[in-house]
Amino acid sequence: MNSLDRKDLNTPLEEARQGEVLTMENPVLDQMHSGKKFYIESYGCAMNFSDTEVVASILMEDGFTNTKIADEADLILLNTCSIREKAEERIRNRLKDFTKLKRRKKNTLIGVLGCMAERLKKDLLEQEKLVDIVCGPDAYRDLPNLVGSATTGQKAVNVLLSREETYADINPVRLDTNGVTGFVSIMRGCDNMCSFCVVPFTRGRERSRNAFSIVAESRELFEAGHKEITLLGQNVDSYKWKNPETEKTVSFAELLVMVAEIHPDLRVRFSTSHPKDITNDVIYAIAKYDNICKYIHLPIQSGNSRVLELMNRTYDREWFLERVDTIRKIIPDCGISTDVIAGFCSETEEEHQDTLSLLEEVCFDMAYMYFYSERPGTLAARKYKDDVPHADKKRRLAEIIKVQAEASHKSNKADIGKVFKVLVEKESKKSADDLCGRNDQNKMIIFPKMNAKPGDYVFVEVTKCTSASLFGKIVK
Ligand code: SAM
Ligand code: SF4
Ligand code: F3S
Repeated sequence: MNSLDRKDLNTPLEEARQGEVLTMENPVLDQMHSGKKFYIESYGCAMNFSDTEVVASILMEDGFTNTKIADEADLILLNTCSIREKAEERIRNRLKDFTKLKRRKKNTLIGVLGCMAERLKKDLLEQEKLVDIVCGPDAYRDLPNLVGSATTGQKAVNVLLSREETYADINPVRLDTNGVTGFVSIMRGCDNMCSFCVVPFTRGRERSRNAFSIVAESRELFEAGHKEITLLGQNVDSYKWKNPETEKTVSFAELLVMVAEIHPDLRVRFSTSHPKDITNDVIYAIAKYDNICKYIHLPIQSGNSRVLELMNRTYDREWFLERVDTIRKIIPDCGISTDVIAGFCSETEEEHQDTLSLLEEVCFDMAYMYFYSERPGTLAARKYKDDVPHADKKRRLAEIIKVQAEASHKSNKADIGKVFKVLVEKESKKSADDLCGRNDQNKMIIFPKMNAKPGDYVFVEVTKCTSASLFGKIVK
């Protein structure tokens, strides 16, 4: 990161420290919420869902119990996302749904957690009058105190970002678990400053979690019956943890191996890899260990090098293609997916064509595709004009989706006749006679139950496909 980026990063973080109502540790509040119920909804990325489990743990430690029914809750929490304008709109609409409930049950407290809380800080209290608590992603330990203050009628805000907080010592409470797959956060924040992205401002500086606590949490999940864990970070390849006793630094490749060695029946996944940082050591670790899934989510964002530079991604088209080549040389059957943004500031039609041609060339197995949504405070919002007309953004996105649908279909068709080891996750939504689960490459396969059940490993032969799913039958 250059000095300009650091300065740009600091400004909003400094803002984050303004106007907080900091509540102090208060022993009188210990367990004061005994018997009270909280209801929580999560939005956004897997890391946010993982944070919800940390929040649940903190609240339960304080005496709260969890309820799945908003109407019976004393505390309603929304763990929010700010990544695109639409994500925030959805949360504002959801808050409206609670207006009537709050009128009926005046003492119900409403709290906004996560990225939207961090981005808007106390302004959120002005904009959304029914909100009582605003709590940023690094302030969850303060939640019991914030709830205590809000109970006395005070609005409570803590949006302090931290350089150290990783919640390493907190044992997350698995709320909506299928008992088979689980998430483990390995780091927090992001230092990359992609110009379009709000995450560095809402999540703060990057910090890596103690490797031993990651291994301990993963082992605990395995011993509780989970068969697959996904290690989470915005940029897992920059994971770096220094063991204070040995002074040795654990890299992401080393961490992956430590987790894979817990047990050969524990499958390991991870997300997200950054094309500028993914190392050959990581690729070789995936190739070497049968239980590290042969799947990499590698967001490209744009297929044009000028646009990538404006996005501050710090790689170009050629670099990305080389990384894909290397992955496929070392792991020929590796699943690769990506993220794409259509219509970034000043993107021309020719540059958009470069994205389409890259999608055709790489033939990703899957992609998450969006049109650019300007986020206040980001580098792009401050430096560039959001000048691609909305209609063009939508049309370019539709073209991207069409090319990718063909690529996904091609990739799926190539799997017909192959047999994959699948971890059964759950009953298929469409039929109670079918189960579904993922193969190593992260593709969902649907197949008749036979005698299998969630948590089993089965061998499934693929018999047909659509562009989104594979269908098959158990052969072993
Ligand atoms: N850390 C991951 C990386 O760098 O690849 C991405 C994390 S971000 C939560 C998920 C995706 O949202 C990004 O890869 C990008 O495609 C998309 N995204 C982020 N900001 C966006 C914006 N302002 N408009 C549209 N899409 C955006
Ligand atoms: Fe956002 Fe870039 Fe960080 Fe991903 S790497 S979270 S896109 S700033
Ligand atoms: Fe959204 Fe925050 Fe994740 S902005 S995508 S919830 S890090």
